[in-house]
Parts: sequence; C-alpha cells; structure tokens
Amino acid sequence: MTEDWFAGDPRTNAERMRVGDDYIAEGPEISRALVEGAQRAAQFSALYADSPDGAQALLTKLLGAIGEGTYIRGPLFVDYGTNITIGSGCFANYGLVALDVAPITIGNDVQIGPNVQLLTPNHPVDAARRRAKLESATPIVIGDNVWLGGGVIVLGGVTIGENTVVGAGAVVIRDLPANVVAVGNPARVVREIT
Ligand SMILES: CC(C)(COP(=O)(O)OP(=O)(O)OC[C@H]1O[C@@H](n2cnc3c(N)ncnc32)[C@H](O)[C@@H]1OP(=O)(O)O)[C@@H](O)C(=O)NCCC(=O)NCCS
Repeated sequence: MTEDWFAGDPRTNAERMRVGDDYIAEGPEISRALVEGAQRAAQFSALYADSPDGAQALLTKLLGAIGEGTYIRGPLFVDYGTNITIGSGCFANYGLVALDVAPITIGNDVQIGPNVQLLTPNHPVDAARRRAKLESATPIVIGDNVWLGGGVIVLGGVTIGENTVVGAGAVVIRDLPANVVAVGNPARVVREIT
C-alpha cells in the first residue's frame, strides 16, 4: 500500500521517482509514460527490421536527445526513452536495453556492443520493501569515446570516464576512470590506455 510507505509525503510516485527517492511504479503518469516509451521503442524496432536507415528518424521522438550521426540498431528496449541523452557519432549494436528511470547520459563517439544493459533502477534488498514494490533509480553517465563490449551491464549510479574500454561481459558496479581497460564481474581496471 502506497500510503503506508509514504505517509506524510505529499509527493506523487512520479515526483519521488524523478529525484531518485523510493517510489512505486504505479499511478497514471508513470503508467502512461511507460506504455508510450515501450510503444515508441517497439515501433523503432519493427521499422528497423524493414528499413534500418529509415528507422533512425524515429529516434528523435523516442529519446530525450540524440546527436548528429548516431546510429542505433534494433531491437532497442527502454523504460521511458525520454530520459536518455546520447551525443553525436555514437553506435549501439543489436539489443540495447536502456532502463532510463533516472537519466542515462551518453557522450559523443561512444560504441555500445550487442546486448548491453544500462540499468538505472534498483530494488531494495530488504524483503518487505521489495515485496511492496518499492524501487529507486540513480543516473548513468558514459563519457566520450567509451567502448562497451558485448553483453556489458552498467548499474545505476555509475559514471564511466572518457576513452575507457569495458570488456565483453563485464558488470560495472562502480565508477570507472577515464582511459582504462576494465573487465570482469565486478569490472576491474586491468590497465591504463596510454
Ligand atoms: C577487453 C578487450 C577489448 C581486450 O583489451 P586488451 O587491453 O587488449 O586486453 P588483453 O586482451 O590484453 O587482456 C587483459 C586481461 O584482461 C582479460 N580479459 C580480456 N577481455 C576480457 C573479458 N571480456 N572478460 C574478462 N577478462 C578479460 C585477459 O584475459 C587479460 O587477463 P590476464 O592479464 O590475467 O591474462 C577484449 O578482450 C574485449 O572484451 N573486447 C570486446 C569485444 C566485443 O564485445 N565485441 C563486440 C563488438 S562491440
């Protein structure tokens, strides 16, 4: 029950969600935005199957912002889409999952391998809070010229510095500095790029 968890808090779930506080993913504003995001992503993915180049024009309606020359392959999955900002000259391969409850900010010239997941939302470890469907989200920031290998998972709250390379299959649970190669689960820096 929403009232029990948020007693005395006059804010709506959508308002709590936007500032990164605990919220429950329900209510007309959140439900409508989730459906619209899913529909726009599905339209993009369906059109991509027929006309990969033609589908790119839909991205301006689906995403919060997209820079010149950025190319995304379908299928693409988002929560809202509107909380994703991606710079110019980027490339995202098949199957990007970008759960943008909190903002996802992607710089310029970023390369994203197949089946990468950018996951801003988190569920409580506490059993009662999780059963009550509470969740919260923290932003993801990916710097210019980063390369995320295939299957990389980036968790909420993570910032990856520019030029860094993340090896295939890595799970990035905390910030990575600029100009390094990081691999593994959890992702650890294995060398600097000089
Ligand atoms: C990380 C990567 C770029 C190689 O970078 P590199 O600096 O040349 O790294 P190296 O090959 O010298 O490996 C450095 C260490 O990391 C390990 N390593 C490399 N890639 C790894 C990965 N994906 N997962 C776990 N460990 C990895 C190596 O075994 C090595 O460890 P060791 O020193 O204990 O032997 C490459 O392995 C990779 O993962 N590429 C992604 C490919 C991909 O996803 N392609 C899809 C198109 S986007």
